[in-house]
Amino acid sequence: MFLFIIGFYFIPGALSIEEQCHWIRESLTSFPEPPNRTNHNAIYGPIHELFDATIERKVLVEEENAITSFASEPGCFERKESTRRWRFSEENSARLRGNGGKSVLASVLLRKLRWSTLGLQFDWSKRNYDVSLPHNKIPDALCELAKQMAATAMPTGEEFKPEAAIVNYFGLGDTLGGHLDDMEADWSRPIVSMSLGCKAIFLLGGKSREDVPVAMFLRSGDIVLMAGEARECFHGVPRIFTDKEGAEIDPLESHLLHEGNNHFVDYIRSSRININIRQVF
Ligand code: OGA
Ligand code: MN
Repeated sequence: MFLFIIGFYFIPGALSIEEQCHWIRESLTSFPEPPNRTNHNAIYGPIHELFDATIERKVLVEEENAITSFASEPGCFERKESTRRWRFSEENSARLRGNGGKSVLASVLLRKLRWSTLGLQFDWSKRNYDVSLPHNKIPDALCELAKQMAATAMPTGEEFKPEAAIVNYFGLGDTLGGHLDDMEADWSRPIVSMSLGCKAIFLLGGKSREDVPVAMFLRSGDIVLMAGEARECFHGVPRIFTDKEGAEIDPLESHLLHEGNNHFVDYIRSSRININIRQVF
């Protein structure tokens, strides 16, 4: 049986090993940095240098005497997300201070990192872009790559404008349920989606949740474009493979090891990263 959905493009091996290593490093170090938001923002506020803190075995500690601040409008007692109540501390000093204050290992936070957002910030609670949130432009190199990759799926003579990206981090057992990405204004623009690290199963369904999906593997370095009709199709990631045979990341591992990046190797052996880049307006 053939899969033929107009606007769905699968580009296997689109990224060289060097490019894959580069984007893995960026995804773990610079992409989760404020003002970019991550799934940890809602609980801890902005967290700086999570990956370094993990290497240094730090602990995120709730500040004693933290002042809980309240939204300024009268009658509204919602706590502001941005209060700086948590900061990294050496493991020993955190233990010494001991009693009461909450703490969480940086390594645990890194394992529980599920997403970060670049460019225009996507607000997951509203499932929409919040242009009022502070943000940086998507890095130039990522913009260039996305434009280049998007070109085949663009209406003739038009250039893709990368305005936002969502980075998904998958550990063993993490999945992405069937969904549509429907918060962008113009569905003729593709979503450019890069796979890094462990192999995954990608399910591409039809316009109804009842349609039986087609399954395919996405490996490190593969790129998928979804434009036009394909934007109306449900899709998801039901599983990733973290075993040595299944993950298919041997060349990637060797390259990272060769560069002396043991911490990146440790992470990517049991993880998959997906960067998907979007034109919002
Ligand atoms: C998404 C998405 C697919 C993937 O983030 O919207 O569909 O390959 N990701 O992880
Ligand atoms: Mn999607």
